[in-house]
Amino acid sequence: MASNPIREHEPYTLEAFAADVDAVVTRESTQARIVQQLEPLLARFLAAETLPDQFCCAAPNRIASDHQDFTLYRLHRGSGDRFNIMAAIWPAGGGTGVHDHAGNWVVEGVYRNKLHTIRYVRQDDGSQPGHADLRKSMTLDMLPGDVAHVQYPDQYIHDFINPTEQPTVSVHIYGGDITQETLNYFDPATSAVEPVAHDLSYDNE
Ligand SMILES: [Fe+2]
Repeated sequence: MASNPIREHEPYTLEAFAADVDAVVTRESTQARIVQQLEPLLARFLAAETLPDQFCCAAPNRIASDHQDFTLYRLHRGSGDRFNIMAAIWPAGGGTGVHDHAGNWVVEGVYRNKLHTIRYVRQDDGSQPGHADLRKSMTLDMLPGDVAHVQYPDQYIHDFINPTEQPTVSVHIYGGDITQETLNYFDPATSAVEPVAHDLSYDNE
């Protein structure tokens, strides 16, 4: 990727970050190449510490829904919703529950504090409605500056938990608009899976 030596010395702002993400998503067509190229951009954005303060604290008076006890801010909307950049504020002990992403890639990173993620692989063939056998494949504690990704066809079922007593701030680049999609939510203990439509919402819109 060509780089501008003058820009390298300027603060890496949300606007510059979004422009770089747009260039990658425009240029590349496979999930593997997109996430590979977005991870270093997100790492650079996290290290620059230019996320505006208003996106680093929980939305006041937000009411938790069945699948969202965390604040979600939309930071940038890519053209045609090819991607969205979001910040999430996780309360102490809060999390997502085990879920997938409707076929979309995600690149995620921690800005403040810690996020624990658990990845699962699906053991069954998906032919039985409401049923999914999962096996835990990986756990990861992400600290400020750490980045990771979700991509299909594997490594796509996961859970996020803030294991600490303080809020966690994370930044996510999502390959679509997560608030407009039907996500599957899994219960690994009972092998139940439930599709849930449009349950997530942005707290700044
Ligand atoms: Fe997720």
